[in-house]
Amino acid sequence: MKIRTRMCTSLDGYVTTPDGWPAQLADPAFSPETYGFVEFQQTCDAVLMGRTTFEPALGAPQWPWGELDVFVLGSSRPAGTPDHVVVDSDPARLLERVREANRGGDVHLVGGPSTIEAFRALGALDRLGLVVVPFFVGSGMQLTPTVATDTALTFESARPLPGGPLEVTYVCG
Ligand SMILES: NC(=O)c1ccc[n+]([C@@H]2O[C@H](COP(=O)([O-])OP(=O)(O)OC[C@H]3O[C@@H](n4cnc5c(N)ncnc54)[C@H](OP(=O)(O)O)[C@@H]3O)[C@@H](O)[C@H]2O)c1
Repeated sequence: MKIRTRMCTSLDGYVTTPDGWPAQLADPAFSPETYGFVEFQQTCDAVLMGRTTFEPALGAPQWPWGELDVFVLGSSRPAGTPDHVVVDSDPARLLERVREANRGGDVHLVGGPSTIEAFRALGALDRLGLVVVPFFVGSGMQLTPTVATDTALTFESARPLPGGPLEVTYVCG
C-alpha cells in the first residue's frame, strides 16, 4: 500500500480558488475522467482526507468515492456522514485503521494541505502527486507553508493529460 496525493494546483501555485474550492473546479472542462481521477482511483482501495475536504461531499448530487473505503481526519463526525466512513481525530490512529483495512491497493490522500502535512509528518506520505492545471487562479490556498518545505522529493514521472493538465509525481522522503 502506498499513500499518494494527486492534488490539483494552478499554474500560479494555488490548490484552491479564491473562494476555497479545489483549483480544478475552475476549469469548465473538468471531469474526473479527463483529469485521470477515475483511472487513478482504480488503483486505490481507499481515500483519506481532512474533514474540511470531506464535508462538501455530503451535499454532492453523487457520492464521489464509489466503492472505495473512506477515512476522514477530524474531531467530529459531520452530520449525515454514512456509517461506513471512518472518522478519527488522531492521525496515527487513523493511519492504523487505514492499514488494517487495506486489501493491497493504494490510498488516495485527497487533501487538503493540513491533512497532507499530518501524514507526511508521520512518514506515511509515499508519493506527492500533483496535477498542474493549465490556468491561473490569482489567489487561494497553497500547499506551503502548511506542508513542510524541507520535504525531500525525488522525481518519478510526468505525463500530459488531454486538454492541457500535467500530472507530476515525486517520491517522498
Ligand atoms: N486542489 C485539490 O486537489 C484539493 C484537494 C483537496 C482539498 N482541496 C482544498 O483544500 C482545502 C482544505 O484544506 P485544509 O488543509 O484547510 O483542510 P483539510 O486538511 O481538508 O481538513 C482540515 C481538518 O482536518 C483535521 N486535521 C487536519 N490536520 C490534523 C491533525 N494534525 N490532527 C488532527 N486533526 C487534523 C481537522 O479537523 P477538525 O477541525 O474536525 O478537528 C482540520 O480542521 C479546501 O479549500 C479544499 O477545496 C484541494
